Amino acid sequence: MLARTALRNVAQRRAFSATAMTASKVAVLGAAGGIGQPLSLLLKLNKDVTELSLYDLRGTPGVAADIGHVNTNSTVSGFVPGEKGGIDAALKDAEVVVIPAGVPRKPGMTRDDLFNTNASIVRDLAKAVADNCPKAFVCVISNPVNSTVPIVAEVLKSKGVYDPKRLFGVTTLDVLRASRFISQVQKTDPTQEEVTVVGGHSGVTIVPLISQSNHPDISGETLDKLVHRIQFGGDEVVQAKDGAGSATLSMAQAAARFTASLLRAIKGEKNVVEPTFVESPLFKDEGIEFFSSKVTLGPSGAEEIHPLGKLNAYEEKLIEAAKVDLKKNIAKGQSFVAQNP
Ligand code: NAD
Ligand code: LMR
Repeated sequence: MLARTALRNVAQRRAFSATAMTASKVAVLGAAGGIGQPLSLLLKLNKDVTELSLYDLRGTPGVAADIGHVNTNSTVSGFVPGEKGGIDAALKDAEVVVIPAGVPRKPGMTRDDLFNTNASIVRDLAKAVADNCPKAFVCVISNPVNSTVPIVAEVLKSKGVYDPKRLFGVTTLDVLRASRFISQVQKTDPTQEEVTVVGGHSGVTIVPLISQSNHPDISGETLDKLVHRIQFGGDEVVQAKDGAGSATLSMAQAAARFTASLLRAIKGEKNVVEPTFVESPLFKDEGIEFFSSKVTLGPSGAEEIHPLGKLNAYEEKLIEAAKVDLKKNIAKGQSFVAQNP
């Protein structure tokens, strides 16, 4: 009996170290920015990352040297345009690419106001992904996410390398906020609060499903205020930063969580579920090609897109409002690439 247990332990240890040894190169594009730096630090702490590749227009050699002293085994390299192979070297053989490149909002702006600047940044980065790591899992943070994810999809399609299971809009910050804000209302531990957030990532397209949370009875003004705070949480940070940008630290934590979930799923862990903005069948018949809902992640990426589940009349109304904006945001991204290939 003892011998059998010992043998099983050895086998488990071997299996564990084989998993831990699997190489995973993660590239961060926009790595010297407000999100990029803390995100890169958090990824350096992730044992599933073996190689961290940091790309930005400037500053990444310094960020890489700094983060490279953190005492985990992964290697860290910094890349800028025109040196050491630039973006091509940064992306070569990357398994996961996380994109926080682009400008953030200032007070008074919507995420859509960022479109004119960020659309071409994201389009060009997507081209580089297609050329250097066409099979990578791509996680898009740059706003407006509702449009930048369709932009990446169109670019990858035009290069013949689009796999809808490998492209994700990172909406995890909405999930973090929902669990934190509901815990503040209910005076509970936020780590025990799970709120599914669906739709997209801006204003009314962000739809928290409170009826499916631990507190389905929240109602009236309390519910209105909670939902509004989750939908417009980004504005709180933009206003408080007063012109110096938008959420960076909480976003880094959110993206680190999503990337960690994805890496665990790629390596074979079962039942890894995160809400994320993906090409989705949920409202395709209404012309809405992308939608965020719970997604089971696995070795091939988005393996199962969950339906929304039972909604109450309040949530049905929120979804209807979300769909109107989402349809426009998605079409805007798609036609940008058609007109500016
Ligand atoms: P930031 O200005 O601090 O950093 C952006 C970085 O992108 C800069 O270092 C810049 O040099 C770099 N960059 C610009 N063009 C580039 C290019 N062509 N190639 C490589 N790097 C390039 O901004 P931030 O606060 O880090 O925000 C970045 C983006 O993330 C913004 O669009 C913001 O709206 C978005 N954001 C999204 C979420 C979300 O939930 N998805 C949350 C917060 C912020
Ligand atoms: C957020 O939700 O914090 C981000 O999308 C940044 C922003 O512009 O609000």
